[in-house]
Amino acid sequence: MTDLRAAIFGASGGIGAALVAQLESSGRYDYIHAGARSLPRTWSPRTVPFCFDLEDEASITGASQEIGEAGPLDLVIVATGILHREDWIAPEKSWRAIDAEAMAKLFAINTIGPAIIAKHILPLMRRNSRCVFATLSARVGSIADNQLGGWHSYRASKAALNMLIRNFAIELSARNPLGIVAAIHPGTAQTPLSNSFIRNIPEGKIFQPEQSAAHILSVIDKLSARDSGGLFAWNGERIPY
Ligand SMILES: NC(=O)c1ccc[n+]([C@@H]2O[C@H](COP(=O)([O-])OP(=O)(O)OC[C@H]3O[C@@H](n4cnc5c(N)ncnc54)[C@H](OP(=O)(O)O)[C@@H]3O)[C@@H](O)[C@H]2O)c1
Repeated sequence: MTDLRAAIFGASGGIGAALVAQLESSGRYDYIHAGARSLPRTWSPRTVPFCFDLEDEASITGASQEIGEAGPLDLVIVATGILHREDWIAPEKSWRAIDAEAMAKLFAINTIGPAIIAKHILPLMRRNSRCVFATLSARVGSIADNQLGGWHSYRASKAALNMLIRNFAIELSARNPLGIVAAIHPGTAQTPLSNSFIRNIPEGKIFQPEQSAAHILSVIDKLSARDSGGLFAWNGERIPY
């Protein structure tokens, strides 16, 4: 028994479900907390499901209490996010398409929700040894890397998330110098989030969620405290903010 504990927020998602499956099959974690809006499918006995909604802080408080009672966490991955919603949210091609309600929804899910998770979960991370809190972000959230424009709300929500990750890294380092907080770009993966937007991308450049999950776990394995606060691509490359 290693007594290592992991938690995945977004276990119902394309990449999130693949992350849970790979953490399970790695055998490295004795406890895996797998969270989704409604109770996710049944996993192996070492995986404990929990419910949360990013737009309901009380649900995150409740989930964190449950998780905290089981013991300190070594790895947390927030694998939630939205890019579009049928009928009413689509990535904007122009400033003319900006809609306040749609933009607020993207910030609620992509930025504020993960921040609320951090608020309740970072205090539960293991102290005095290496631990990793990672959120899935996106390369398009890099201001320095932005040459194409468009996708205003998604880009801005991820850029704001990247800033929060940097802030949380600074705060965590005072509590645990070995603690790591990072944002990870999973590459383009074929999931419900991306399905309508990958038609023009050559097949060889699109990952299956299982490939993305394997890349993410490999990047996380190689991170050290020096990397805390950074944004990393699926291949470990550091993406400038
Ligand atoms: N796929 C890509 O090409 C790609 C590229 C760059 C970055 N990313 C990032 O990777 C992450 C995972 O994306 P994915 O491709 O796996 O997308 P996905 O399959 O659509 O999964 C999104 C996840 O977010 C959850 N979620 C949405 N709203 C929620 C809420 N209010 N409360 C709790 N959970 C909520 C969904 O839960 P439900 O099942 O309940 O809706 C689902 O588990 C996102 O942050 C995305 O921005 C993906």
